[in-house]
Amino acid sequence: MISRIKGWTLGVVQPIADWTEERTGVVTMLEHFLYEPVPKRGKWLYTLGSATLFLINLQFLTGILLLFYYVPTTDNAWDSIYYIMTDVYFGPLIRGIHFWSANILMIVIGMHMLRTFFSGAYKAPREINWVIGVVLIMLVTILAFTGYALRWDQEGFWAWEVGIKIGSYTPFVGAYVATFLLGGDTAGPATLARVFVIHVWLLPAALAPLIGIHLYLLRKHGEFGSEFEYSKRLAELRERQQIEEYALYEEGDEDSRG
Ligand code: HEM
Repeated sequence: MISRIKGWTLGVVQPIADWTEERTGVVTMLEHFLYEPVPKRGKWLYTLGSATLFLINLQFLTGILLLFYYVPTTDNAWDSIYYIMTDVYFGPLIRGIHFWSANILMIVIGMHMLRTFFSGAYKAPREINWVIGVVLIMLVTILAFTGYALRWDQEGFWAWEVGIKIGSYTPFVGAYVATFLLGGDTAGPATLARVFVIHVWLLPAALAPLIGIHLYLLRKHGEFGSEFEYSKRLAELRERQQIEEYALYEEGDEDSRG
C-alpha cells in the first residue's frame, strides 16, 4: 500500500519538479541549501540547530498572526488576549502554538548549545559562530521573558516587576537599565509599550541578521567533524609522529657520525 502511494506521489511530483527545475533551477538550489553532511557519530543530534530554526520561524509566523488582534495598552492587553481565546477563529490554536513553541524552543536551543559544546564545535575556526550562538540564546531568553509580560495578567506583570527588580541590583548599570525598561520607577503603561517594542520589533530585528550570519558561517566551515573520520585522523596523526621520530633519529645519527 505504502509503496503504491509512494509510486503514485512520485509519478505526480517528479514531472512538476523536473518542469520547474528546467525553468528556474530551484530544485538544485533547494538541494544545495538543505544538504549538509554531518559526522556519522551522533547524527540525529545535528538536527537540533534546524529544529531551533524551525521553531523560531514558527514564533515569527504565529506572532505576526497574534498581532492582528493584540492591543499593547494596559487597559486592553488582557482583554484582547481574552478575545483571541474566545472569539477569534483559530485564536486558541495560534496562541497555543506560540506559547508551546516558545517553551519547546528554550529546551531545544539549550540542547543545541550542549551538542555544539560537547562535540567541540566551538573550537577554531568556529569561535565566532559559538559567540554568535551565545548572543542568540540570550536574545531568545529575553524574547521569552518579554513575551510573558505582554499578557499583562497577574502572573506576567509580577514576573516582569520581580525580574526587573532583581536585575536592578547589577553593579553600575542595573538601576539605569531598570528605569529604562520600566519607563519610570514602577511598572505601568510606559512599561508595556517598551516591552512590546522590544518583543515585537527590536529582538526579531536583531535575531534575523544574526541567524543569517550563523548559517553563513556554518556553511563556510561545515559541521565540525564531518570533514574527517576520527579513526582516519588518528591514523594520520600516528603516521606523522612516526615520521617526526624517524627524522629526529636520523639527525641524532648524523651528529654522532660527525
Ligand atoms: C536562534 C538560535 C539558533 C539557531 C536558529 C541555530 C541554527 C543552527 C543550525 C541550523 C546549525 C546547523 C545544524 C546543527 O549543527 O545542528 C547550527 C550550528 C551551530 N550552532 Fe546554532 N543555532 C542557534 C543557536 C545557537 C547557540 C545558542 C549556540 C551556542 C552557544 C550555537 C552554536 C552553533 C555552532 C558552534 C554550530 C556549528 C556546529 C558544527 O560545526 O558542528 N547555535 N546552528
